[in-house]
Amino acid sequence: MPLQLLSQRLEKIHHDGLYRSLRSVERTTSQVCVEGRQALLFCSNNYLGLAEHPALAQAAADAAVQYGTSSAASRLVSGNQPLHQELEDKLAAWKGTEAALLFNSGYAANTGIIAALAGRGDIIFSDRLNHASIIDGALLSGARLIRYPHNDIQALARLLEQHQADGLRLIVTDGVFSMDGDIAPLKAIADLAEQHQTLLMVDDAHAGGVLGQQGRGTVDFCGVAGRVDIQMGTFGKALGSFGAYAACSRLVRDYLINRSRSLIFSTSLPPAVLAASSAAVDLVRCKEGQQLRQQLADNGTLLRSLLQQAGCKVPDGCTPIVPVMVGDAETTTRFSARLLEEGVFVQGIRPPTVPKGTSRLRCTVMASHSPEQIRQAAAAIVRVGRELGVL
Ligand SMILES: Cc1ncc(COP(=O)(O)O)c(C=O)c1O
Repeated sequence: MPLQLLSQRLEKIHHDGLYRSLRSVERTTSQVCVEGRQALLFCSNNYLGLAEHPALAQAAADAAVQYGTSSAASRLVSGNQPLHQELEDKLAAWKGTEAALLFNSGYAANTGIIAALAGRGDIIFSDRLNHASIIDGALLSGARLIRYPHNDIQALARLLEQHQADGLRLIVTDGVFSMDGDIAPLKAIADLAEQHQTLLMVDDAHAGGVLGQQGRGTVDFCGVAGRVDIQMGTFGKALGSFGAYAACSRLVRDYLINRSRSLIFSTSLPPAVLAASSAAVDLVRCKEGQQLRQQLADNGTLLRSLLQQAGCKVPDGCTPIVPVMVGDAETTTRFSARLLEEGVFVQGIRPPTVPKGTSRLRCTVMASHSPEQIRQAAAAIVRVGRELGVL
């Protein structure tokens, strides 16, 4: 009976055009094999190509040989190894913060940080388009959740005036919005946070390594260094590894070590992952990182302009995320499937990941794409878009 219920629910997901399934993709290079078919990869977050960089692979291999394959405990038991602390010191130096604290993934970081910082009697102000892990963290916290309209500073100011709390208040926003590629107005948000004595947290999953001096992210890019209480960042995107961190004060780090359940009750990151992440931070800070960022920016500009010139609904922007707005979920699925037949792999993004009626192809560029590959992908998107009546 319960299984029958699940089957009916799955049927409804199918019926609504929202069915999801896993596809096997061999690697993260610009040309990949997707279920036996060669295709150009235009939906990976391997923005700088570091997931295939020999320096990261070598560091991971060396660490596995030297230290083994697992930390085999949470950090508060026996899983706090020298590599954890070394990477945290390196992160704090890169981000220009007093301290940093590692988490096992961006999802674990957001749920663990937000639910630790806020609880009953507190209020969380969250941008309406924030990542699902932020929403889950807020729901888990038991604090009151107030979602403000996307990047709407006037609305946020009004809500902060209206809703006072007995406890603390926290504003949380993506730095770069994962499905739209736009950037939060962090200067205005930091002004409001200071004016209203509110904690401020920025999720920089898509900006670390990509934006700002030495790839420090949106806090540097928007000129608000020292004004953001918690910068969450991830290693699984531009940094080509896995895991996440909070860059913050010593006080916040100490508090999170004592209260964050995703840190306390989970085995810590293994040596190979820590070593790859450490090599990635070195890379994004050096000249090679700067060159890769320039290449990435040029590639983003090329794809965006080719699609816009052909009449695609593509918002302006300066990040590697280039959404092609479609609207309807089913058409988006067909668009993505047809593109794969044409040798271009781009995922369609549908509700609940994005609001209803705003389904889209979430195209992403990487530094490793050649201009020719970008032209090929843009031409295929335009051709299939016309065929489906979307353009
Ligand atoms: C904005 C944002 N925050 C957090 C996450 C979660 O990070 P992770 O994949 O490391 O769990 C993602 C994507 O995965 C994201 O796009």
